[in-house]
Amino acid sequence: MSEDLIVAMFNKMTAAGYDEYNSHFQPIVRNFLFLIRLVLQDLPTHARILCVGAGTGTEILELATVNPGWTFCAVEPSDSMLTGCRAKLTAAGVIDRCELIQGKLADVSATERFDAVLCLLVLHFIRSQDERVQMLEGMYARLLPNGYLINAEISHDMSAADFPLMMANWKAMHSLAGADEANLVNVENSFRKVLGVLSPSKTEEMLRNCGFADCLHFFQSLFIHAWVSRRHN
Ligand SMILES: C[S@@+](CC[C@H](N)C(=O)[O-])C[C@H]1O[C@@H](n2cnc3c(N)ncnc32)[C@H](O)[C@@H]1O
Repeated sequence: MSEDLIVAMFNKMTAAGYDEYNSHFQPIVRNFLFLIRLVLQDLPTHARILCVGAGTGTEILELATVNPGWTFCAVEPSDSMLTGCRAKLTAAGVIDRCELIQGKLADVSATERFDAVLCLLVLHFIRSQDERVQMLEGMYARLLPNGYLINAEISHDMSAADFPLMMANWKAMHSLAGADEANLVNVENSFRKVLGVLSPSKTEEMLRNCGFADCLHFFQSLFIHAWVSRRHN
């Protein structure tokens, strides 16, 4: 699927639809957000955070609420998701600390530096490895020395013996959330032909090759994995 089709898919889904579907996964989301807070806890009181593919702003809302001195830059290509993000951050009274940009990483100033960059559940949409590297390098370039990258993505070694069993559980999870059969039969096909699903070891290798250090694989729920790593210089 081309990048534009991905954005069109998120526009079609609508922010309200995205949040409603994700509400079925609250136990996973709460755990994940709690751990993100934990790994970022040594950031300064006035940290500045970049969120790439911010969606409806879930991660910003969480971090802004518990860190009243932090400011945020959200970049998101889907008009519909960004509109939902703006509404949510406005309702929560944190919009004054947020800059919202409709676009992609390249639309974020190349000279601004952040204490942390979050790229949650975006990279598996990028099938081209060259584009992934470009994105990782772009995020590295926008970090302050010692700044953190948190990246989360769908990841698995699809040739591994446990892949079918993991896929069965993944489908069961979506079924519990109300996904219909027609969507479920296509999931495996979309992992192989639509998304760019890499193994955790490949993702870690790419992080290292792009300059990131101290890479810690701190979260996994079925196919969703997350890492925190740092820019050192
Ligand atoms: C699954 S959502 C994740 C949203 C949010 N980060 C979260 O965890 O709830 C993926 C988001 O990435 C956005 N996206 C897709 N391609 C992108 C790209 N190349 N750069 C930045 N964002 C992108 C989509 O529009 C969508 O809002």
